Amino acid sequence: MHVFETPAACRAYALAARAAGRRIALVPTMGNLHEGHRSLIRIARARADEVVVSVFVNPIQFGPNEDYAAYPRTWADDLAACEEEGATAVFHPTVEAMYPEGKPTTYVTETAISPFLCGASRPGHFNGVCTVVTKLFMAALPDVAVFGEKDFQQLAIVRRMVRDLDIPVEIVAAPISREADGLARSSRNRFLPEGMRPQALSLRHALLAAKAAWDGGERDAQALEKILRDTVAREAPDGVIDYARVSDAETLVPLTGAIVRPALAALAVKVGPPRLIDNILLGR
Ligand code: PAF
Repeated sequence: MHVFETPAACRAYALAARAAGRRIALVPTMGNLHEGHRSLIRIARARADEVVVSVFVNPIQFGPNEDYAAYPRTWADDLAACEEEGATAVFHPTVEAMYPEGKPTTYVTETAISPFLCGASRPGHFNGVCTVVTKLFMAALPDVAVFGEKDFQQLAIVRRMVRDLDIPVEIVAAPISREADGLARSSRNRFLPEGMRPQALSLRHALLAAKAAWDGGERDAQALEKILRDTVAREAPDGVIDYARVSDAETLVPLTGAIVRPALAALAVKVGPPRLIDNILLGR
């Protein structure tokens, strides 16, 4: 397994692979790899000859009061996980290698899907994501890139970005990976205080309650959002809801009244220090 520390080294490898007619898949990550990331690597392996996993905690997607410094960095374990899952290369640049001139002055900005949900509470976050994903694409030159559905909005924005900019990368969505009790896997789960896990599970329970209501015929967006909020309020007395929203599944525009198209129920809740997110599709 190769390890590259600069965009130029990664690109040289990608160009050689392409010249040899080999398909490249990219799995972009911020490291601290867990079973969810491993499932992305396995999906990538099934779709390409070369699998590049990028491990880079991207400073420009964190706001000033967010957890950039505290974000878990577990490089030795990440390297072992990539090796175990059969990645052929890991791209692990330093911040200086990615941003040699400091904060970039050119950003990739998606404007239609970004303003809602996480974009509303994390201003600039998706500009940082789109910019780094574009840079990762330029380094790894992938035919296909795999993104998890837990970050549903990120996935929708990246899809839109590649359409808008004619970026020749197929975007593949990977289903949310969950713990046995249903908690969506996340690097931030490790910051859940001991004893608060039952409250963290309120997100999953709220989404399942909304889905059950949907399956029972409920189509009113506000009624479904009330189920989300009430379930979290009941099960997570210490939780602080950032959003509890039912949105159009494609545009992520918040819905009101009767829903006539596939929808996404999505939650962001602060449970102790970590801000957890989860979602479920209604009517896929
Ligand atoms: O989902 C993530 O881990 C990050 O947002 C990504 C896509 C690797 C960009 O830094």
